[in-house]
Amino acid sequence: MKSPLEHLHPEAEDGSVVLAQLSDPHLFADRNNVFLGINPYDSLSAVLAQLAEESGVDALLASGDISQDHSAESYQLFTNMVDNLPLPVFALPGNHDLPSHMHSVLGASPVHYQRRVRMGNWQLLMLDSTVLGIPAGHVPLSELRWLQGVLEASTDTHTMVALHHHAVPTGCAWLDQHSLDNGAEFLSLLARYPQVKGVVWGHVHQEMDLMHEGIRLMAVPSTSIQFLPNSRGFVLDTQQPGYRLLRLGSDGSIDTQVKRLTGHEFVPDPTASGY
Ligand SMILES: [Fe+2]
Repeated sequence: MKSPLEHLHPEAEDGSVVLAQLSDPHLFADRNNVFLGINPYDSLSAVLAQLAEESGVDALLASGDISQDHSAESYQLFTNMVDNLPLPVFALPGNHDLPSHMHSVLGASPVHYQRRVRMGNWQLLMLDSTVLGIPAGHVPLSELRWLQGVLEASTDTHTMVALHHHAVPTGCAWLDQHSLDNGAEFLSLLARYPQVKGVVWGHVHQEMDLMHEGIRLMAVPSTSIQFLPNSRGFVLDTQQPGYRLLRLGSDGSIDTQVKRLTGHEFVPDPTASGY
């Protein structure tokens, strides 16, 4: 198992850090498999190709649901795909991931599967919010204690926290049954530390961007299927796959933008009623 990457040195002279976040590729062992009308290998390939054209990106974060079929091969496929990027890549688990396979494959690959990295005046803290066997999330007491310990010891370091599950409702009733079940406790802990500037997550397959007690909360579209915002039941959205760019200023500011693939190449199955 490789040792963690402790420090990442940002490229920009002004000390800002540019992070790209992608989420929820839902890959299969077989790259020809289609997921509700979209081939997730093809859509992730297209997202990575567009990301490779972005200038100044310092690192890539994949915020869970790397796999749809839990196979070791799907993780190997992911590592092969991101290996072509000239960037450090970080990954954390989602509810569709199988931690044992994810840990063994990513641990032996260039992808970093770790909890913390320092980047200039910033640090990125990556949490495991998964609960084996259910789609909802939970930040266990051990993770909350670890988070508190790191934040107590780094009051002068701007902080971005990343996890898979959403800590506030999306407005989609079906998805909000599967949110972080202790989101309020998690956010109230973070709000005690003014150096925490933002939280990013995946899971919801749609964009979110709001302020909560001084913390910016952001969700990113999936690289595969999209969920229609504000829908009571399961409905797929025809918006294209995407990713998020985050420019983290040395003064603690966050400048962020969601980018999607152009065109209409990836069309979900209009009859899909769940997955
Ligand atoms: Fe997902």
